[in-house]
Formats: sequence, structure tokens, C-alpha cells
Amino acid sequence: MVVLILGGNSEIGIAAAEQFANNERAEIILASRNMEEADNKAEELSRKYKIPVHTAAFDARDYDSHQGFYDELDPRPDVVIQAFGILNNQKECQKDFQKARQMLEANLVGAVSILEIIAADFEEKGEGTIIGLSSVAGERGRQSSYIYAASKAGLTVYLDGLRHRLYPSGAQVITVLPGFVPTKMVAGRTSKFGETPLPIAGRDIYKAWKKGRHKIYTGSKMRWIMAAIRNIPESRMLKMRDL
Ligand SMILES: NC(=O)c1ccc[n+]([C@@H]2O[C@H](COP(=O)([O-])OP(=O)(O)OC[C@H]3O[C@@H](n4cnc5c(N)ncnc54)[C@H](OP(=O)(O)O)[C@@H]3O)[C@@H](O)[C@H]2O)c1
Repeated sequence: MVVLILGGNSEIGIAAAEQFANNERAEIILASRNMEEADNKAEELSRKYKIPVHTAAFDARDYDSHQGFYDELDPRPDVVIQAFGILNNQKECQKDFQKARQMLEANLVGAVSILEIIAADFEEKGEGTIIGLSSVAGERGRQSSYIYAASKAGLTVYLDGLRHRLYPSGAQVITVLPGFVPTKMVAGRTSKFGETPLPIAGRDIYKAWKKGRHKIYTGSKMRWIMAAIRNIPESRMLKMRDL
């Protein structure tokens, strides 16, 4: 089995890759725009799990390169984990549209661009699994993060539709909705709703694949926390200024 991590330096992506390496003896491809770091991670993973780990250059916002990137992959993946993403500061995005645009492009447009190419291949083959890392943030817009949330809401709906499209072919799409996972993306931030340890996030992603799930939250409590947040009446939500 071959597992491709798009955004190969993602800490959650690597935590999931470790699960596939450990439990399935999977061959891993780390696709990243930072090749030095990806090469180091590949060596580390390969040494730790005694599996082949490759690297490939990939930039989610370089849309024109995506078809060539996928065509040149050898071996081709059976499982793709779309882990790339950025979280720019909300207030800076309000002042500087380029910051908002960068985030919307990386998190949503880049995902659509590369996943459509992979989906076409998996659909034709009638097998393969795409695992998309969206976010609980996309379930309710809040003043503190609504531009990031919009990119993730778009991604969640995109993945829903892609799953619906691919279902008859046998190819699968799994949507992962992590809550707060302490990685470099959220360094210096805290969460009111608790956090999911990185190894648990990786384990939950692997388990979702193993059990053929369609959509999961990481950690055990997030499903219930998000049910409560989604159901806060809008008139009350508007007065909750610390969210
Ligand atoms: N951590 C959380 O609390 C949390 C919660 C909900 C959802 N998520 C989502 O889970 C995914 C993984 O996050 P993480 O916590 O593992 O964060 P992370 O460690 O910061 O990983 C994100 C990776 O995305 C890569 N990336 C960004 N823009 C890219 C681009 N244009 N092309 C290629 N790669 C790009 C970055 O690569 P470089 O190394 O080159 O910068 C980075 O390594 C993200 O989509 C994130 O939005 C995370």
C-alpha cells in the first residue's frame, strides 16, 4: 500500500502516516514545498518503521503544476491524505486581502485543483481513498477566525460532494474534522474546548480509513462540543464576543 501525504510536513499528516507505516507497513510519499524538511522527515520515518519513504515537490497554490506532479508519481498512491493548510491571523486578513486570499487559495482552491486530478484517477480505477483534513472551524463562523472557517466550510462541502460523486465507483472520500491539535499551525494559541493530542489525531484518521468511515471528528469529545456550538441561536451567538 502506498500513502501520499499532500503537505508532507504537516504534523497531523505525519502522525497519520506513522499509523499507516506501523500498522500496514505502507510505503509513504511526502509531497511538500519544503523539500529539505520533507527529506529529513522521510529519512526519520524510513529509519523508524523500516519502510520506503519518498519525497516529491508540491505546492498547493501552483495549480498548473498539479497534473504533472501527479502523473510523475511512481508508485501511484492508494491513499491520499490532503493535509496542507494555513491559518493566517484573522485581523491581518481583514486588513490585507492578500493574506486572506493566500489562505483561501491554499486551503480550498489548491485542494480542489489537486483532488480533482486524483479523483479522476481513482474513479477510473474504481478504488483508492482520499482523506481530506478540513476543520471544525468550518461548522460555524466566528469573529475570531471566519476567513479560515470559510475556507474549511468550502472544503467540507467539496469533500461531501466528491464522496457522493465517487461512491458508485468504489473510490472513497473521508472528511476529517479536527478540533484543536497542538501543532506548529496553532503554536501560541489555546482552545476553550480542550485539545486532541497529536498521536490521537493520527490514530483517529487511520481508524477512519480502517473502518471505512465517511466523516469523523478527531478526539472523543469534539462531536458533542460541535453539536452544541452549531445549535447556539444566532441572536445569542452575536453576544458571545469571546468566541
Ligand atoms: N492543528 C489544528 O489544531 C488543526 C485543527 C483543524 C484543522 N487542521 C487542519 O489540519 C491540516 C494539517 O494541519 P497541521 O496542524 O498538521 O498543521 P501544520 O503542521 O502547520 O501543517 C500544515 C502544512 O501545510 C503545508 N502547506 C501550507 N501551504 C502549502 C502549500 N501552498 N503547498 C504545500 N504545502 C503547504 C505547510 O507546509 P510548509 O512546511 O512548507 O510550511 C505545513 O507543513 C491543515 O489543513 C489544518 O488546517 C488543523
